[in-house]
Amino acid sequence: MVENGSYAELKMEKLSLQDLPGVGAATAEKLEQAGYRDLISIAVATIGELVETTGVTETVARKMINAARDSMKMGFETGTEMLRKRQAVAKISTGSNSFNTLLGGGFETGAITECFGEFGSGKTQVGHSLAVQTLKQEPDATIVYIDTENTFRPERIQQFAEGAGLDSEEVLEKIMVARAYNSDHQMLLTEKIESLITEQGKKVRLIVVDSLTSHFRAEFIGRGTLAERQQKLNRHMHQLSKLAASYNICVYVTNQVMAKPDQFFGDPTTSIGGHIVGHASTFRIYLRKGKKGTRVAKLIDAPNLADGEVCFEVAENGLRDVA
Ligand code: GTP
Ligand code: MG
Repeated sequence: MVENGSYAELKMEKLSLQDLPGVGAATAEKLEQAGYRDLISIAVATIGELVETTGVTETVARKMINAARDSMKMGFETGTEMLRKRQAVAKISTGSNSFNTLLGGGFETGAITECFGEFGSGKTQVGHSLAVQTLKQEPDATIVYIDTENTFRPERIQQFAEGAGLDSEEVLEKIMVARAYNSDHQMLLTEKIESLITEQGKKVRLIVVDSLTSHFRAEFIGRGTLAERQQKLNRHMHQLSKLAASYNICVYVTNQVMAKPDQFFGDPTTSIGGHIVGHASTFRIYLRKGKKGTRVAKLIDAPNLADGEVCFEVAENGLRDVA
């Protein structure tokens, strides 16, 4: 006899895509090619997505989604369990006290934080600073830095490390940088992160994806490709939020937007990836250039913090408060 509580879990592990109604070998293959590899990905998919990727009818897609949902264990946790998890959340300092205050102490682990803003607004500098500050707080941590624009600079890490009073060589040794050449490569690298943790025993505490969207933007041009891009980006965000939640990792992603709203979509907060990236990120920060070379960070969206705005500076050896 299987206990009530564990029954659903066992069932979920045994089921594969082909156990879903209407899914034969051919459909399963299409699903897998499109990145739907487990039942969870089907359970959270939309009918439209499945129809588009596999050519099944809406009725079949609905049945697949419902069956996948039924097969999963109930997604409820007690408040006590939630509180226990919240207590494990660490806040990573940005280096600037005012920036930290805006975020209730710093960038949270177990969540995705997105900074979006125009070129030169400081998104990449924030990534470098977080890498160093994470290691200052947890010297045995590993940082994973996925660099899509070739803007990771070990020299900047050295400067920030010195500013934080750390041995720069030791810091560089703990940052694993991977250059992503296209969006598939970016997703493949993300997929590999789990094995760093489970097989190599690395304590990954921060993942930086800088930039999250540049390859997607470059590869999917034109209206016809928008749905495909959003779908892929959705899967990428799903990968990242799973890592954040499963291993209590701080995930930091950057996203470029144009300065002039009227030349873009009308609203600077409509960054690329739009609602997909927005919904998957727990915290969203809009960065812009302020007066006299300062930077302004504006909190757009946060579950338990007041929206607000602060000024900081990108200095030679770290992010600093404005005097
Ligand atoms: P894109 O990736 O182009 O969208 O820009 P970004 O938002 O990533 O901007 P980034 O973080 O690269 O910020 C660049 C700015 O950081 C520069 O304009 C400088 O103001 C500042 N900065 C970069 N390097 C240094 C440095 O060595 N010393 C100081 N003081 N400031 C620096
Ligand atoms: Mg950058």
